Amino acid sequence: MSSSYESWVERRADASSSDSRIDLRSDTVTHPTAAMREAMYHAEVGDDVYGEDPTINRLETLAAEMVGKAAALFVPSGTMGNALALLTHCRRGDEIIMGDRSHTYLYEVGGAARLNGSPVRPVPTLANGALSPVHLARAFQGDDVHEARTGLLCLENTHNMCGGRVLSSGVLTELGTEARNRGLPVHMDGARLFNAAIALGVPTATLTAPVDSVMFCLSKGLSAPVGSILAGEEPFIAEARRGRKLLGGGMRQAGILAAAGIIALTEMVDRLAEDHECARRLAAGLADIPGIDIQPETVETNILFFGVRGPDGRPGDVAPLVAAAADEGVLFSGGDDGRIRAVTHHGISTAEIDHALAVLARASSSSLPSM
Ligand SMILES: Cc1ncc(COP(=O)(O)O)c(C=O)c1O
Repeated sequence: MSSSYESWVERRADASSSDSRIDLRSDTVTHPTAAMREAMYHAEVGDDVYGEDPTINRLETLAAEMVGKAAALFVPSGTMGNALALLTHCRRGDEIIMGDRSHTYLYEVGGAARLNGSPVRPVPTLANGALSPVHLARAFQGDDVHEARTGLLCLENTHNMCGGRVLSSGVLTELGTEARNRGLPVHMDGARLFNAAIALGVPTATLTAPVDSVMFCLSKGLSAPVGSILAGEEPFIAEARRGRKLLGGGMRQAGILAAAGIIALTEMVDRLAEDHECARRLAAGLADIPGIDIQPETVETNILFFGVRGPDGRPGDVAPLVAAAADEGVLFSGGDDGRIRAVTHHGISTAEIDHALAVLARASSSSLPSM
């Protein structure tokens, strides 16, 4: 390796860490590691639309193996991976069942309606991120000529808006069976699938066995700069590859991105446990701050939600607390449901969690109404 290249990697790593803010808004803010930058620099590339990018081919083979599926497809984003699953599993106009707090329902630009021409049947999301088999059983539609046929069931694991809650393989099997008994496929939005597997201490493939397809992100906690994977059976992935071209996701010499994805899968999975530890530490500290409303026992992975309580014990406005913490360089997302979201990730240490707690304790004593 040339010395100018080494100093370039060092300069980039320095630039990545020059941000002194403690950014707990999302794990999407992670930067590629030095190993990723090096792998990207050296990546062998080819035209992936011809199937000739060796690095993408390696990533897709590795990803399929890791989630126990026959084939995988590299896509630019989680949103595109989920959209392709919907497009590939369903006929145009088929109804799609998903949780009413799922990312596919709330935050993917109404893709089911816009791309599939499909009605969505939202069912209540339980506090633990699962769906109720009773609600599901009522939601499936079939032969009645008045009804749109159900085409797909979507599940989410870990569940973002439920605070990173994990669906176990038992729950997934129970829900998947409801669909499969009716001849319907199941897709899992596993943007943070590896967080679920690490939290449960099970091989990732045990969480994907009950579903027909899974999307997971190489970005977010795994820290790749770009990219997600859609995995499933070979004919499904062959058809999704066509859909990816339709959506403009055929990326040519994108091995330069896939190289970072390979590092994400080989070097960044096990360390997710550190993020979970940081989240638990944050939750425990928050529980000790007067006026903060949190249930630390529900924190299972790297996402947690908390609120503030007014003097009457009722939920208060979180905006002043988010603003006061931001003034001191600690960033949170103010959720649209009146709660604050914190997400731990690569680059956030336990010392930074402790600093964030000290800032919050100070900010809450000045910005929250006194108890
Ligand atoms: C649960 C879940 N699914 C899908 C996505 C979409 O991923 P992307 O931002 O890569 O499109 C996200 C993004 O935050 C997510 O949290």
